Amino acid sequence: MTVKIGFYGSGNMAQSIIQGLLAKEVYPKEAVVVYNRRYAPTLQKTVETYGVTAVLDEKAFFESVDIVIFAVKPQVLRTLYANIKPFLTPKHCLVSLAAGITLAEFESNLGDYSCIRAMPNTPLAVLEGSIALTRNQFVSEEQFTTILNLFNQVGTAKELPENLFDAFIGVSGSAPAYVYLFIEALADGAVLEGMPREMAYEFAAQTVLGSAKMVLETKEHPGVLKDKVCSPGGTTIEAVKALEDNHFRSTVMQAVQAAAGKSRKMNEA
Ligand SMILES: NC(=O)c1ccc[n+]([C@@H]2O[C@H](COP(=O)([O-])OP(=O)(O)OC[C@H]3O[C@@H](n4cnc5c(N)ncnc54)[C@H](OP(=O)(O)O)[C@@H]3O)[C@@H](O)[C@H]2O)c1
Repeated sequence: MTVKIGFYGSGNMAQSIIQGLLAKEVYPKEAVVVYNRRYAPTLQKTVETYGVTAVLDEKAFFESVDIVIFAVKPQVLRTLYANIKPFLTPKHCLVSLAAGITLAEFESNLGDYSCIRAMPNTPLAVLEGSIALTRNQFVSEEQFTTILNLFNQVGTAKELPENLFDAFIGVSGSAPAYVYLFIEALADGAVLEGMPREMAYEFAAQTVLGSAKMVLETKEHPGVLKDKVCSPGGTTIEAVKALEDNHFRSTVMQAVQAAAGKSRKMNEA
C-alpha cells in the first residue's frame, strides 16, 4: 500500500516537492494530499497543476495521511502546535521544513511522535536540491527510508546529526546565493572582455554546472581536478594566482562560517 503524503501548506516548498515527486512518477498523485486553512490561490494552483487532492478540514487531513510535511513558515508553525496536537496519532511521521525549529522544540510541543527535521535549499525547485535530514528516536527505519527516498526525488538527501545543521546552512542552505554571485562575477569578467552579457551568463552557469558534475561524478578531489586544468605557464594558473592573491578561498570559507554562525545565533534567540 502506498503511504499517503500530506503537505500542510501549499506554498513554494510544498509545490516544488510535489512537482518532483510526481515528475519522477514515484508517487501517484492520488497519494498526495494538501491542506491549507483556506482555498488560497496557492492551493488552487497546486491542485490544478498537479491534480493532487485538497483538504480544507484539518481533522480529515490528519486522518487521511501517514506522512505530514509541514511546509509553513517557522513563525506560523509555532502558532499551530496546540491546534495540531489533538489530531496526531502513532501512525503519523511528522516532517518539518521550518528553518530554525529544532527536533527538541518540535517534540516538546507535539509529544512523542516520529519527527524528522528536513533542511532543503532552493535548487530543489529544479530537482537539484541539497537536503539534510535528522530524526528523533521514534522514527522507524521504514519511515526514515520512505522520507529519504522522497527527498531524493528532488535532489540529494542525506542524514546529518542536528548539530551540523548550522554547517549545512553555510555550505548548502545559504550557498546558492554565493554561487550566483560567482556566476555573475564570472560573466562580468567575460563582458569586460567584450562578450555579450546573455551569452556570458550561459557560459558561466554551464561551467559551474559542468564543474560540479565533474566533482560529483568522477569523485576526484577538487584540487586534483583543478591541477588538471592548470597547464604549466598557462592561462588557468594565471587566473588561480589572481584568485589566491585576493584570498578567494579564505573569503569563501569565511562566508560559510558567517552563515553558520548566524544560524547558531538564531537558534539561541
Ligand atoms: N523557500 C525556501 O527557499 C526554503 C528553504 C529552506 C526551508 N524553507 C522552509 O520551508 C517552509 C515553507 O516555506 P515556503 O517558502 O514554502 O513558504 P510559503 O511559500 O510562504 O508557503 C507557506 C504556506 O503556508 C500556508 N499557511 C500560512 N499560514 C497557514 C496556516 N495558519 N495554516 C495552514 N497553512 C498556512 C500559506 O498559505 P497561503 O498560500 O494562503 O499564503 C502557504 O501556502 C518554511 O518553514 C521555510 O523555513 C524554505
